[in-house]
Amino acid sequence: MFSINPDDLTQKPIEQAETIPSDWYTDPGFLTIEEKTIFKKNWQLACHQSQIPNPGDSICRTVAGNPIIIVRENSGEIRAFYNVCRHRGGPLHVKCGTTTVLQCKYHGWTYLMDGSLRGVPQFDRVELFDKKDFGLKPVKTALWQGLLFISLNDEIHPFEDVVNGILDRIHPIRLDEMSYHTSTVDRINCNWKVYVDNYLEGYHIPIVHPELSGLLDYKNYITETGEYFSLQYSPFSSSSADNPYKAENGRAFYYFIYPNIMLNILPGRLQTNIIEPDGHDKCRVIFDFFYADPEKAEDDGTIAGDLEYSAKIQQEDIEICEAVQTGLKSDVYDKGRFSVKRELGVWHFQSLLKKNLLDFQS
Ligand code: FES
Ligand SMILES: [Fe+2]
Repeated sequence: MFSINPDDLTQKPIEQAETIPSDWYTDPGFLTIEEKTIFKKNWQLACHQSQIPNPGDSICRTVAGNPIIIVRENSGEIRAFYNVCRHRGGPLHVKCGTTTVLQCKYHGWTYLMDGSLRGVPQFDRVELFDKKDFGLKPVKTALWQGLLFISLNDEIHPFEDVVNGILDRIHPIRLDEMSYHTSTVDRINCNWKVYVDNYLEGYHIPIVHPELSGLLDYKNYITETGEYFSLQYSPFSSSSADNPYKAENGRAFYYFIYPNIMLNILPGRLQTNIIEPDGHDKCRVIFDFFYADPEKAEDDGTIAGDLEYSAKIQQEDIEICEAVQTGLKSDVYDKGRFSVKRELGVWHFQSLLKKNLLDFQS
């Protein structure tokens, strides 16, 4: 069992703070603690409404080892359940040819969209069995701007607290008007927090992404923090032909929503990233791309450009993140310090981590 040194949970201002210790990134036992204290305790992004547009559409996710199914029912409402049959734990799917019944893929028990158990084949001599006691376990949901968030914690803070202020900041961009286009998934050999830390600062841009650096007005790169999110924003220095965002007047918002969600927002475009731990030293980064007008974006080359550009930046980030994981595992590194000017987002993220862990300990 991993034991946390209480000194490592001390909160200090960024000017005095140390980074979190290396064994939080490298010890398998720490991930077990994170599943309980972080992933089960906070809101998680499940999908955008445009990924399940029709009644009967469904999508599956995993949160802290728990399989979740998200379904759209006939009324248009979206619901989420643990994707675990109450018979012997099998997975469910929307029964072929229906829009209203979930069926277990193992022995065929069926459930209605409110989670109640309906069909139990060949179960007639079973005693003391009441179907009412065997409904699917629901998962708490919040729909915001077309994005569906879920939480395994019934006592969680209100979702509004998480995104408070974002809409005013991105106005007039509306995320609920975007439509899903495509996804990519990267498996990376680093702890999930290495990838998150890296996303949260522009400090590495001149070294790791020299090409991107040339497009940004790095002097005016800013980071703002809210209670549960941070925002990075940089005006573009160039409107030249090689700037992939030239048409957008330089407005781009890079939001991080604690603990593992990224919303990259441009006028007419949204890219969401979810960073899922895959063991203690690997993670999965799921990129979903959305456009206000996918057909137009397809025709004018915006989508091809976005995919190509994002893949290039991602490759540069993957290489540095995997190298950092090796450094964190080495015999000589434990903790570092923050650039006050450039690493506010990383400090904010690590402060929230400590707060969650402290709540768990007390
Ligand atoms: S496990 Fe679902 S019907 Fe048996
Ligand atoms: Fe980067």
